Amino acid sequence: MAEPKTSELMEKIVSLCKRRGFIFQSSEIYGGLNGFWDYGPLGAELKRNIKDSWWRSMIQLRDDVVGLEASIIMHPKIWEASGHTSTFSDLMVDCLLTKKRFRADQIEPQSGTAYFYTGATCSSGGKESKDPFSVLIPSPKHVEYARKVARQFYQQRGLENPALIGESSRELQSTTAYNPENGGLLTEPRPFNLMLKTYVGPVESEDNKSYLRPETAQAIFAQFKNVLETSRQKVPFGIGQIGKAFRNEINPRNFTFRSREFEQMELEFFIRPDEAIEAIYGAVAQPPAPGHPGEPQPNWGWQLWHQYWVEERIRFYENIGLPRQSLVEYWQKPEELAHYARATVDILYKFPFSKQDDKGELMGEELEGIAARSDFDLSQHQRFSGKPMMVFDEELKAAWLKLEPAKTADLFERYFEARRQYLLKAGVGAGKAEKQAREDAEALLKGSYVPHVIEPSAGVDRLALALICNAYCEDQAPDEKGKLESRLVMKFHPRIAPVKVAVFPLLKNKPELVKKAKEVRDLLRPHMRVFYDEAGAIGRRYRRQDEAGTPFGVTIDFDTLGEQGPEQKDTVTLRDRDSMKQERVKIGELGPMLIEKIR
Ligand code: GAP
Repeated sequence: MAEPKTSELMEKIVSLCKRRGFIFQSSEIYGGLNGFWDYGPLGAELKRNIKDSWWRSMIQLRDDVVGLEASIIMHPKIWEASGHTSTFSDLMVDCLLTKKRFRADQIEPQSGTAYFYTGATCSSGGKESKDPFSVLIPSPKHVEYARKVARQFYQQRGLENPALIGESSRELQSTTAYNPENGGLLTEPRPFNLMLKTYVGPVESEDNKSYLRPETAQAIFAQFKNVLETSRQKVPFGIGQIGKAFRNEINPRNFTFRSREFEQMELEFFIRPDEAIEAIYGAVAQPPAPGHPGEPQPNWGWQLWHQYWVEERIRFYENIGLPRQSLVEYWQKPEELAHYARATVDILYKFPFSKQDDKGELMGEELEGIAARSDFDLSQHQRFSGKPMMVFDEELKAAWLKLEPAKTADLFERYFEARRQYLLKAGVGAGKAEKQAREDAEALLKGSYVPHVIEPSAGVDRLALALICNAYCEDQAPDEKGKLESRLVMKFHPRIAPVKVAVFPLLKNKPELVKKAKEVRDLLRPHMRVFYDEAGAIGRRYRRQDEAGTPFGVTIDFDTLGEQGPEQKDTVTLRDRDSMKQERVKIGELGPMLIEKIR
């Protein structure tokens, strides 16, 4: 079957999400709220499975990562320390005519003729506007279109039947100064802080102003010392958290991809600075080759830890059903990196709405970023809170005693310079930065340092959307009479599928079949999400579960009751959603067999 076009495909996916109860528009009965979404029964199960998979693989199956669940609203100083208050903004532009707001970087460059007006007067005399305005029109459109748009602009300024003044025109190439929807002039770009504000307590004053967290990560840094002291962990170790985040996105779009309320799954993995590794092990291990570097080793520096987490995260995505070829590993260019970051890899998924390259290949959109953030975050909280964020490392302290003085001096100098650079970039004066950096380097020689961090940060909602897009499939299946008909099937990996198994009595008016089917349902229910369905023809019931993405269907028929002979008694038909193949399985073996497939 031919692949549907990408926008057509996205429309089908959005419609399926509503029809089958994956995702609904928030507050739909009141007209919706842009950038907010609700997850229906199937979507809620899908999201829960995603979060459980992440928590299991990142925390429960590891010795070196622990969990945290912090509050959404935190002390506003946290956002000053993190830089969000001053720099967490996007450039926005407004259409001067419709007031519609756009993210400046999302305006596609356009070419055409721009018509300029210096103002307008009211035809009936009196009123005048000297506000300049202009309209860009692509070549096939006539100047009258520009005049019509300009008149609307001056009408909004109170001029009833405006006569335009000072018309002139110019050809423009690749400009982003005009609204692509109507050609009207946009405002100059200006920064817009994305944090959603609120007030804590009964008085709405500046002193009580606070923010809904724009990321979960900062709570991990703020609680670093408490977790370290209570969890008996030692660097290298990580703290993971799943939770809501809020961003007042200028232009939420692409369904749930860019929302104003969403969930993140973030890990902060704290490591020794490279100078400490070099002091202890003589050298920092170098990445032998691209790909997974294997089990973590004590002599890994930030580069190998970063590579390790990139590969671990790709394995995670593959493990829940996103094929490797649907993912892109994008290494940010030096000019794209945050000033404190040493490297950042974005893992992109080829969503149907992703941009295409010259060859028509989907380029992908971000699912997750994995950043090597140096010791920036903990250092910031140390400076802003005045509370030490250093750890003491016994092995490092002992290592200095065995080191050549020249090597010690070299490591001291390198660490001093890195700290000095951080402090200067953070705005600390040169003299103070020099003094503080020297103290930090002296602390290193006594075995203390601020840990560095690798941060894999993923979005639950984006992953849910990627899994839905990836699962969506139209194929052919035989109907009751064996005639091929088109079938819509959501091919979720069993690990992530919202419902794992559907249980059907062949006929609902046969009490023995219904009783047995309910026994099978109750047998499986403690281990997995089961859906029991007795309504309609069996083929229709299969189709409904195909659309929900349920990987297995179990049918209880007369053979199960032993009516065709003792050898089939207490066996059921197990149907595989993707191949539609059916096999006979003993009820007693069903549980272990399915558990094996969904784990
Ligand atoms: N602590 C780092 C951080 O927050 P980010 O790249 O801004 O980094 C991490 O966000 C992930 O959170 C993204 O890769 C994406 O999956 C998700 N995310 C960010 N903004 C989002 C939005 N407006 N809607 C849905 N998911 C979003």
